[in-house]
Amino acid sequence: MTDEKHTIPPRDHKLGEGNTAEVFAWGEGRILKLWHSGYSRQASQHEAIVGRTIHQLGIPSPEVIELVQLEERYGIVYSYVPGVALKTWLLTVPQRLDTAARWLSRLHAQIHNHTADNTLPSHRGRTRDRIMAVSELSISDRERLMHILNALPDGYQVCHGDFHPDNVLVEGSHAIIIDWSDASAGPPEADVTRTLLLVEGADVPLKLRDAFNRAYIDEYQRQRALEVKLILRWYPILAAARLAENLERLPGERQRLQTIVNKVLLRHV
Ligand SMILES: Nc1ncnc2c1ncn2[C@@H]1O[C@H](COP(=O)(O)OP(=O)(O)O)[C@@H](O)[C@H]1O
Ligand SMILES: [Mg+2]
Repeated sequence: MTDEKHTIPPRDHKLGEGNTAEVFAWGEGRILKLWHSGYSRQASQHEAIVGRTIHQLGIPSPEVIELVQLEERYGIVYSYVPGVALKTWLLTVPQRLDTAARWLSRLHAQIHNHTADNTLPSHRGRTRDRIMAVSELSISDRERLMHILNALPDGYQVCHGDFHPDNVLVEGSHAIIIDWSDASAGPPEADVTRTLLLVEGADVPLKLRDAFNRAYIDEYQRQRALEVKLILRWYPILAAARLAENLERLPGERQRLQTIVNKVLLRHV
């Protein structure tokens, strides 16, 4: 952690903004991911540890350069990744849909070929914590979901945790995967299910989402063995866990997830 006091970069240096952080250009070949006020140092420290592990494994990802504190906010300086998000690459030329979906699959299977080390948290533990944090589920609903979760097989592969076409930056034939804060050691089927759920809930036309997911899953199965039956079992569990997220930017998404969760809860009464 450097103690140097820098000032927060001006707005015109901003490259992106999400729920948790803003991203700024930060000198030659670097960017700064700066968590919003109110986030503790722990969030950036965790992402830096995970980011270093992933980069050292040789997975195409930005390099973690240093942790910084600017005024009361914490951040990470990363190497700059040139290019555009795979989502943008696809939406500017819709004929690229099949290529984009298959590209995403191959990268995903490549991630899952790595066995995780103990710097990555367990997928099961993170999923449990998320579901437990969903206040709109009753205690008995949460217990029933835990029961289903506990019966699902565990895994020890590297899982990204938020693998969608906005977290892959592409330039030419080169792709780099960003945003590793939710990475864990877990079963690839769960990570694939999360991608399917994220694409289904994306703010693009339904036809595109369906076609994308079909090509994505088809290509994944060419790359790696996949127990499709497990995907169906992970589905309501990961829908429930996603209810713990801030979904304000996606109208209707909360309702859609609740419907998926309610179906399984009814079956388990
Ligand atoms: N290393 C990087 N190089 C270039 N742009 C980046 C880099 N990391 C993040 N970005 C940009 O900032 C945006 C938000 O970063 P991300 O890590 O995905 O955070 P969030 O959790 O808010 O989605 C990305 O979608 C991308 O446009
Ligand atoms: Mg992101």
